[in-house]
Amino acid sequence: MCELSNTIVKYRMPASKSKMINSTVLASVTFLLLLPNPAYSQQPANPIRVNTSATQFLGAQKSRNDQNILLSGAEGHIGNTYYQIYADVCQKTNPTDEACSTFLANAIAVETLDPTLVDDYYNPPKMFCNGLKGGRVHMANLVPTGGNAGALWYVELGSCDGFPVFEQNGCPVAAGVATATAPASGQPSCIVMPGFWDTKHEPQFGATAAIGPEPDGYIYLFGSLDANAPGANLSDVYVARVLPGDVTNLGEYQYWDGTAFTSTRIIDPVFNGTYDRPSVLQGVSVGSVFYNAYYKKYIALSAPGGNQLVAYAASSPQGPYSAGVQIWSNSTIGGLYIPIGLPARDTSGQTLVVDLSQYGPNNIQVVLKLFFE
Ligand SMILES: *[C@@H]1O[C@H](CO)[C@@H](O)[C@H](O)[C@H]1NC(C)=O
Ligand SMILES: *[C@@H]1O[C@H](CO)[C@@H](O)[C@H](O)[C@H]1NC(C)=O
Ligand SMILES: *[C@@H]1O[C@H](CO)[C@@H](O)[C@H](O)[C@H]1NC(C)=O
Ligand SMILES: *[C@@H]1O[C@H](CO)[C@@H](O)[C@H](O)[C@H]1NC(C)=O
Repeated sequence: MCELSNTIVKYRMPASKSKMINSTVLASVTFLLLLPNPAYSQQPANPIRVNTSATQFLGAQKSRNDQNILLSGAEGHIGNTYYQIYADVCQKTNPTDEACSTFLANAIAVETLDPTLVDDYYNPPKMFCNGLKGGRVHMANLVPTGGNAGALWYVELGSCDGFPVFEQNGCPVAAGVATATAPASGQPSCIVMPGFWDTKHEPQFGATAAIGPEPDGYIYLFGSLDANAPGANLSDVYVARVLPGDVTNLGEYQYWDGTAFTSTRIIDPVFNGTYDRPSVLQGVSVGSVFYNAYYKKYIALSAPGGNQLVAYAASSPQGPYSAGVQIWSNSTIGGLYIPIGLPARDTSGQTLVVDLSQYGPNNIQVVLKLFFE
């Protein structure tokens, strides 16, 4: 009762439903349409149907302890504690200020039973993971790797000097993994490892999503090429995987080549009017992928036009993905981006809570609860 409002809530996942998924994303202000890969001739049907008259519009997400607002959040967990990890936190001097006084890269908060409320550890929030090159480390994913440990995949954004394309949020100077440890209480600690992938030539794995460990034991990572990579078309999504015990060992990662997972890294994949086959989804600026127990499918979300939500389904993380179906739209709203599904809130998968950040106010302005049919 009243204790709840002052207590950090820990969810407990039944052992039989311990399949943990999280979704992830980086801040971006582009709203591109996500399209299925034309390289797949056998596109599966999309089973997703929403009872639109049951959809609940829950409003904005806020921190319970301070006025800072959070954006680009994704869900993750270590043990039984469920977190939201934010690529950015917009710190406000006063709650009523329209503008953010500071943007803090990567913060972590604990979920509460109410999807519109989280608990921060510090006011102002403390950055969770520090980059090695003095840049801002963006990460919005967290998967458990056993015991009180977890892993996150980051992109470090630094100076655009020497990069052909200037990027508003900074240019990616490193991409790789960080390890996290959750103490019995208090904010988890984080160690950023030196970058794994060449951000000018390889997808930034984990930046679009990191999920797992899946039933086959692997953690699956989704990522796109940066705008500075040759042939990049913003956000053709590529897939890699790794076992939880091997996350810090680059040599153990495997990459989807369109037919199989192999140890061959995806370097300079070509966009030439169509896409290289290894790209499993296209045109998604940023988005999330998660497992849904109700349809028994992996679902990817996009927010085309900034005021609707479109869902794609696949039987395996690497696809093939179905065409999209619109599952929500709202003509009175605009500027929405980074749709994040929070699957752990209903392990049956029949309902789905989704967060959407909004450009302008720069916060998670919309929390939806969708009911699948
Ligand atoms: C859809 O939601 C409405 C409102 O909650 C409910 O009355 C109706 O029975 C639902 N329809 C189905 C097919 O579940
Ligand atoms: C649409 O957005 C408005 C706020 O602009 C909100 O009041 C309303 O409930 C939303 N409707 C749906 C179906 O999401
Ligand atoms: C990016 O891909 C889209 C198809 O999704 C295509 O229409 C567009 O021309 C491509 N842009 C560039 C710069 O290649
Ligand atoms: C473009 O890519 C497709 C798929 O990889 C390939 O079949 C085709 O030959 C390429 N076309 C050119 C002009 O390089």
